Amino acid sequence: MTSTSAYKATLSFSNDGSSIEFPVYEGTTGPDVIDIRTLYGSTGKFTFDPGFMSTAACESEITYIDGDKGELLYRGYPIEQIAVHCDYLDTCYLLLHGELPTSEEKADFDYRVTHHTMIHEQMNRFFAGFRRDAHPMAILVACVGAMSAFYHDSLDITNPEHRHISAIRLIAKMPTMVAMAYKYSVGQPSMYPKNSLSYSANLMHMMFGTPCEAYEPNDVLVRALDRILILHADHEQNASTSTVRLAGSSGANPFACIAAGIATLWGPAHGGANEACLLMLDQIQREGGIEKIGEFIAKVKDKNSGVKLMGFGHRVYKNYDPRAKLMQETCKEVLGELGLGDDPIFKLAMELERIALEDNYFVSRKLYPNVDFYSGVVQKAMGIPTSMFTCIFALARTVGWIAQWNEMIGETDQKIGRPRQLYTGATRRDIVRQPAAETKR
Ligand code: SDX
Repeated sequence: MTSTSAYKATLSFSNDGSSIEFPVYEGTTGPDVIDIRTLYGSTGKFTFDPGFMSTAACESEITYIDGDKGELLYRGYPIEQIAVHCDYLDTCYLLLHGELPTSEEKADFDYRVTHHTMIHEQMNRFFAGFRRDAHPMAILVACVGAMSAFYHDSLDITNPEHRHISAIRLIAKMPTMVAMAYKYSVGQPSMYPKNSLSYSANLMHMMFGTPCEAYEPNDVLVRALDRILILHADHEQNASTSTVRLAGSSGANPFACIAAGIATLWGPAHGGANEACLLMLDQIQREGGIEKIGEFIAKVKDKNSGVKLMGFGHRVYKNYDPRAKLMQETCKEVLGELGLGDDPIFKLAMELERIALEDNYFVSRKLYPNVDFYSGVVQKAMGIPTSMFTCIFALARTVGWIAQWNEMIGETDQKIGRPRQLYTGATRRDIVRQPAAETKR
């Protein structure tokens, strides 16, 4: 803990009038925290916070979110500036090292990542074991976890160099594995990475190129994909990052921890929302499009329907997700480049957003579009199939996960994460067995 106590918080109990004081720490910005680590030892009581609505699980210097202002900073730089002035590997360097790279540092980092993009040839055999229609996230979880079986030279997590080479290998190999999962699903041969291409151009080459002809990535689409990766790179202590930290706190190797993060991201309430959002837009379009929005919104507002407006709402943002705004701009650029300015799904998404933001149900609950609302529309326009959206999200978030993991492992007072509970089950009781009825043999 690098912060010092700014003032104290006092907790008093009405049943016996006892009270206890806790130190309160101020960060460089954002909410202060009450250090309750002595609570159980002093009172025999736990705090109770399912879903961690009011819990800071760690101290971090990497990413800051102000949900009320709709602000997102990577190492202090606003996402709006990073999206314009940086590429994804600049962003990776920034998240990992805390500062933007000099031109020499960037050249070295690019070289190291580029020269780790191939996966062990033996890993190619994993894919053959999956059904062709396997969800690519299932394949990705398996392949990333299996990386632990290949890189024994970098599993000593107490060694900063091992942690750094693991970070480089994960950042470098995710595009290769994501592209291979896609190629396997469409029955095409995998494409080896090309060192002459940039990170995002290489991803497009490996996804959309074939051995039959030269593939020239479209620069506008490459820049759009690179921005999508930047926008998804890190996001404070979200569910999948918290999973990576918890897995890492046990000393598990980085590949196993990232595989756990990918599994968590898959859920529709988290990274799976972009896939779910596009499926939702496609369904509204099939059922009549813009004319049917009112009917759909009515279903969303009916609690019994179980229908949610996917891509809307956020645990932290109670204002517009700054990434959603940038994603909408990227959407317009891509659709314009591809001559799809009249794309009905994009028009439907913008009309759905307009109507929702005028509806008190959403306004009163501070539900705004999040990063997932437009990301599916732009990826679909680029030819990325819906089932691949969360893989792209996982690819982008790998650097955030590994940066947060590295920050935690590097802490001198790092402990295994082990929450407690409020137990409401049966209290101690003895087994009383009735003599078994004679069974006729
Ligand atoms: C990501 O944490 C992160 O940072 C995640 C992420 C990242 O970069 O890592 O930003 C990525 O996961 C973005 C979120 C993607 N998920 C979705 O778009 C799925 C739809 N959204 C919801 O499921 C929901 O908004 C959550 C899960 C995102 C947030 O849920 P919370 O904070 O637990 O809020 P809640 O479910 O308690 O909702 C509060 C109210 C409830 O209504 P009431 O009980 O008060 O009447 O708002 C309603 C909810 O029913 N509500 C929605 C809604 N989201 C919340 N109603 C309809 N549609 C929605 N999308």
